[in-house]
Amino acid sequence: MRKKERILLKNKSVLLGISGGVAAYKTVDLVRRLKDKGASVVVVITEAAKNFVTPLSLEVASQNRVYSSLFEEPMAHIKLPVAADLVVIAPATANIISKFANGIADDLLSTCLLSYKGKVIIAPSMNWRMYENPVFQENLGKILSLGVMQVGPEKGDLACGEEGMGRMADISDIVETVKGALSRKDLVDENIVVTAGPTREHLDPVRFISNRSSGKMGFSLARAARDRGANVTLISGPSQLKKPVGLTFIQVETAGEMLDAVKEKINDAKVLIMSAAVSDFTPVEKSKTKVEKDEKFTLKLRRTDDIISEVIKSKRKPFIIGFAAETGKNINRAVEKMKKKKMDMIVFNDVTEPGSGFDVDTNRVVIIDKKGRTRLGLMSKDSVAEAVLDRMMKIRA
Ligand code: CTP
Repeated sequence: MRKKERILLKNKSVLLGISGGVAAYKTVDLVRRLKDKGASVVVVITEAAKNFVTPLSLEVASQNRVYSSLFEEPMAHIKLPVAADLVVIAPATANIISKFANGIADDLLSTCLLSYKGKVIIAPSMNWRMYENPVFQENLGKILSLGVMQVGPEKGDLACGEEGMGRMADISDIVETVKGALSRKDLVDENIVVTAGPTREHLDPVRFISNRSSGKMGFSLARAARDRGANVTLISGPSQLKKPVGLTFIQVETAGEMLDAVKEKINDAKVLIMSAAVSDFTPVEKSKTKVEKDEKFTLKLRRTDDIISEVIKSKRKPFIIGFAAETGKNINRAVEKMKKKKMDMIVFNDVTEPGSGFDVDTNRVVIIDKKGRTRLGLMSKDSVAEAVLDRMMKIRA
């Protein structure tokens, strides 16, 4: 599985600049996560950062030499940036950001920044007083206006014991931003609506009918479309997953709420990806008080409205990708669903197969469309998402 995952950043080279903030200790994990996705990582570390993380651990994690001094290898300040597809500064201290903004080149990292011509991502990390300082904000504004991408910081407990804005972004958010910056941009400015997760249909204030969907597949699709340049609206039922950055997120609970949200957003959208496991039934009545167990109780259900069937009634029908989570190898059932609901594509998976289905990070799917079937092996849900979008691009072309 790890091997398959490596395609996401395959052949991409990241120059990771580590400046002297306490969060530098987290960068060993960042290097490993980037390498897991297939990137090659070369680290340039400042003298100050060596107080928080050792070059040796970074060398082991990156399986590459770690650079620090301007003078240890001739022309490293030119060669390293030229070889990089992306520069990431994490943590980015007030010092490195301000040097960058003012063209100061007095060590290897700042000199690399001055000679680099490609995309730069910074993950600021500092005390909130420094972050709010108007001189610093002016410097930050200057590099952002020149196209530098910023991830974080977040509000929270700071190393100094205070609380405020200045914590470095989560490593997973930095990895996502890197993925976004290096993705192929073939969906630029397309409006795409993605639904994800289960819905909950309440019978009383404490009980509901739901299903085992975690939302992972839908979140992967939303992130992948966002990374490829789309304006994504992610409409999600209850899920434990972290809300992705860089997209419009709408939280819903019931099938009815999901339908309303889709209806509101679909008019401007070119694509609807229905990966949510929408409840097909909802209680006819919802009790305002908890139903007592000694009451005689019969649960009466009614069908919920089918979201795709509602959407296809609209004049400007979007490209519709549905999902069929089946128990067993019942591909024909998925084909029938695709035809019945006038979908353009349907993604079939057998949730009883190991590594497929609920709450796992992998899936084994068959993508079905009017032109044929694409059977994919076991792979991460992120990779499945890329494959689904690739197939959509192919059949729309
Ligand atoms: N779907 C929908 N609205 C619903 C139920 C499902 O739009 N109320 C969508 C799902 O998001 C999925 C597709 O329809 O993309 C197929 O869903 P599924 O539950 O597998 O199929 P159903 O047609 O509901 O049939 P069944 O439950 O009998 O398998």
